[in-house]
Amino acid sequence: MKEYIIDGGLPLEGQVNICGAKNSILPLMAASILTDEIVVLHDCPDISDVDSMIKILEGLGSKIIKNGRDLIIDNSNVANAQIPVGIAKELRSSIFLLGSLLSRLKQAKVAYPGGCDIGLRPIDIHIAGLRELGIDIQEQGGYILCNSANTKCGDIVLDLPSVGATENLMMSAVFIKGRTVIRNCAKEPEICDLQKFLNCMGAKIKGAGSSVIVIEGVDKLHGTEYTPIPDRIVAGTYLIAAAMCGGNVELVNVNSEHISSLISKLSKTTCKIYIKNDRILIKSKGRQKSLDCIETMYYPGFPTDLQSQIMAMQSISKGTSVIVENIFETRFKTASELKKLGADITIKGRVAVIRGVKELVGGEVLATDLRGGASLVLAGLVAKGQTIVKEIHHIDRGYEDMSKVLGDLGAHIRRT
Ligand code: UD1
Repeated sequence: MKEYIIDGGLPLEGQVNICGAKNSILPLMAASILTDEIVVLHDCPDISDVDSMIKILEGLGSKIIKNGRDLIIDNSNVANAQIPVGIAKELRSSIFLLGSLLSRLKQAKVAYPGGCDIGLRPIDIHIAGLRELGIDIQEQGGYILCNSANTKCGDIVLDLPSVGATENLMMSAVFIKGRTVIRNCAKEPEICDLQKFLNCMGAKIKGAGSSVIVIEGVDKLHGTEYTPIPDRIVAGTYLIAAAMCGGNVELVNVNSEHISSLISKLSKTTCKIYIKNDRILIKSKGRQKSLDCIETMYYPGFPTDLQSQIMAMQSISKGTSVIVENIFETRFKTASELKKLGADITIKGRVAVIRGVKELVGGEVLATDLRGGASLVLAGLVAKGQTIVKEIHHIDRGYEDMSKVLGDLGAHIRRT
C-alpha cells in the first residue's frame, strides 16, 4: 500500500508546470473513437485515470502509443462495443464512451460507472438525453444496453447542467442528420475544449461556454492533433498549497480565467497574486485570515473539485468560515480525516463550519477520494511533525507525481 510521508512546516518556493487537464483529456480520448484516423493528444498528464482510459480503449480495439507527453491513438480497428464491469468501476469517465460508441458502432454495452465516492452520481440525465435522440436504452444486470439504429436530431433540455451528460450528448449527436440543440448545458472550460477538439476533427458544433449548444450533424470526422487546456484544478490545488504554506510559487501554463473564482477568494487574503499571460505568481506569508463563506457552484462559480483543498486551508485560518457544497451530497468525507490532525470542523448536511486552529498536528490519515486526498497532503505540509497519508492511489488518479512537484518546491515529502 503506497503512502506519502510528510514533515510539515516548510514554505514553498519555485515553479510548477501545469499539464493538460484530466477532465479534458478523458472526454477527448473517448471522442477520439469517432474517427478511424489517427488522433494525437499533446501535453497529456501521467496519471492513473489516463492509464485506465487507455486500458478501456484498448479493450475496444484501439492501439495507443504513449510517447512522452503525447498520446498517439489509432482507432481504425475499433469494433467491440462493450465495456466490462471491472474497468468501468475504476473510471467514471467510461460513461463518455456511451456517446462515442453509439456514434461509431451504433450500439454500446457499458457497465455502470465508478470513480470517486463523493455522492450518488446518477446518470439519469445522460440516459434521458440519449433517449430524446431516439436511442433505445435498456438497463440490465448492471449494464446499460444501447442501440442507435434509429436516431433523430432533437431539442434537449437538461434537468441539471451536468458536465458528463453535456459531453456525452455532444458526442452522441455529432453524426445525427439535422440540428440537435442541448439546453441548460454545462459551461465548464472542458466543454469548450471538447467542442474545439470535435470541430478540429470536422464537426459542426457551436455554443459551448454558453447554456445552449447547437450541433449540426456531419457524415464523418477525421484525425487531428490537439493540445488540451491546462488543468485548472491541479493549478488551484498548488495555489492553495502556496497560500497555506507561505512562500513564492509561480505556476506556468495556466489559464487564470479558468480559476477566477479561486483567485477572487485568495485575493481577499493577505496573499499577493500576480498574473501575466499564462503564469500566476503567488506570494504568501502563510496562515491567512479566514474567508467568510464559500459555496461550490457550476462554472464559473467555485469548483466542487477545489472544495476539499480550500477546507484544509480554512482549517488553519484565523477565524471561522463556512463552506456550502451544492454539487455533490457526500463530499465532506475528508473533514473527519482533517479532524484527526486537529482541525475543528462541524458538518451539517451540505454545510461545513470550520473554526480555524493555530496549528495542525501530524498524524495518520486516509485519502478517500482524489481531491480529498490532495487536501490531506496540503494539511500535512503545514502540520507540526510528521503526517502519513495512506491510500494515495486516489491522488494518483489526477495528480502527476505530487511528491516530486512539492519536493521540488522545498517540501519534505516522500512516497513509500
Ligand atoms: C465532472 C468532473 C468532476 C467534477 C464534476 C462537477 C470529469 C471527468 N469529472 O463530473 O471532476 O467534480 O464534473 O464539476 O469531467 N447528476 C445527476 N444526474 C446525471 C448526471 C449528474 O443528477 O445524470 C448530478 C450529479 O449527481 C451532481 C451534478 O449533477 O450532483 C453534477 O454532476 P456532473 O456535472 O455530471 O459531474 P461529472 O460529469 O460526473
